[in-house]
Amino acid sequence: MDLQVDPATRLRGTVAAPPDKSVSHRAALLGAMASEPVRITGYLDAEDTRSTLAAVAVLGALVDRSEEEIVVRGAGLREARETAGPIDVGNAGTLMRLLPGWLAAQDGRSFTIDGDASIRRRPVDRIAEPLRQMGAEVEATDGRFPPFTVRGAHLHSISYEMPVASAQVKSCVLMAGLAAEDPTTVIEPHPSRDHTERMLVRLGAGVHRYGRHVTVTPVDELVGGHLHVPGDPSSAAFWLAAGAIVAGAEVRVTGVGTNWTRIGFLRVLQRMGADLRGELEPVGDDVFAPDEPVADLEVRGGPLHGTVVEGEEIPLAIDELPLVGLLGCFAEGETVVRGAAELRLKESDRIAAVVDGLNALGGDLEALPDGFVVRGSGGLRGGVIDAAGDHRTAMLGAIAGLASREGVRVIGMEAAAVSYPGFTSDLALLRG
Ligand code: S3P
Repeated sequence: MDLQVDPATRLRGTVAAPPDKSVSHRAALLGAMASEPVRITGYLDAEDTRSTLAAVAVLGALVDRSEEEIVVRGAGLREARETAGPIDVGNAGTLMRLLPGWLAAQDGRSFTIDGDASIRRRPVDRIAEPLRQMGAEVEATDGRFPPFTVRGAHLHSISYEMPVASAQVKSCVLMAGLAAEDPTTVIEPHPSRDHTERMLVRLGAGVHRYGRHVTVTPVDELVGGHLHVPGDPSSAAFWLAAGAIVAGAEVRVTGVGTNWTRIGFLRVLQRMGADLRGELEPVGDDVFAPDEPVADLEVRGGPLHGTVVEGEEIPLAIDELPLVGLLGCFAEGETVVRGAAELRLKESDRIAAVVDGLNALGGDLEALPDGFVVRGSGGLRGGVIDAAGDHRTAMLGAIAGLASREGVRVIGMEAAAVSYPGFTSDLALLRG
């Protein structure tokens, strides 16, 4: 499906942030690992998160859906049921990398995981390595890609120093660590999103941070409880970026999750000079708050200037870095993103997608091996952008269209459905 997005003559109003994809995946997975019912409110109804519900159901969890909530009656920490065929994760990288943390603890049982064409290009060696150290067997295609098979074992505890900051790898190891013999520690180069840790605390498990070390204490069983999914800051970021670059815009997004490990982009937006209002969670300390903070955020259009995004800010803004590229086109001076080679391993190579995509719309961007440089060009002309199956490129193109001089045609807009099925109707709402 193609979408023609004409320049916005007016961009005003309020949209509700759709539920958080990362938190939804985790709620369903931890619910499936629990021995008591887990009630989930605000679960995201999108393609990726439906894949997670289907996966946990095939592994023996009972999933009851109603209008207001989802109740997951888990199979238990060590009781996942062997499946007849491969478990299909669709396009969901988070599901693919977290689920093996549970499967690794299924002593003597084997599970094969597969997904769509984009998933088959995404490496799994990053989770295979620590899970093997814990005693599970993992066999992947060409040593590092799906389809791959996990054979569960009685797990040993480990202390694992991650080569790159990855919340997916951290979460996978912590989930496996729940069923290990002794406490398991993950050492992060920089803090990454901590939703798994907060949720585990909420479900009664012992998780602690000491500086860069995150340690989980094993449990006999994971108890049940209520998990609430906040609005997704990564989805809200599209509207907040639009509000910052469309002349005269006033955009309000309600119910946005403001967990400090997810809002690096909002801090970058403020640093670039945007008038962003709303309460952001302050940088956390060593204690995990069991709840996810939420706020209503508001942004108004105004002049922006370039900035540098690097180091510990990268994992805190990883999925929004393409939007930093877009803001850079509208900013005075140079905007640089570096230390973000991980972007090449997402649903698409997002360094190439941003640089080639925005250059085709009149931008002046240069790719680096681990990021990009944007020279502010006073805005974008417009043109055509191909999402190439990546939801965030599709939505990036649409926002570029709103702020462009001639409009943007997005090829493959349907990709947005993996994380934000209501994106085009919210777009229409804000245009009035
Ligand atoms: C995610 C972590 C990030 C992010 C992805 C979702 C998560 O990936 O890019 O969209 O939910 O844990 P990495 O852990 O590979 O950095």
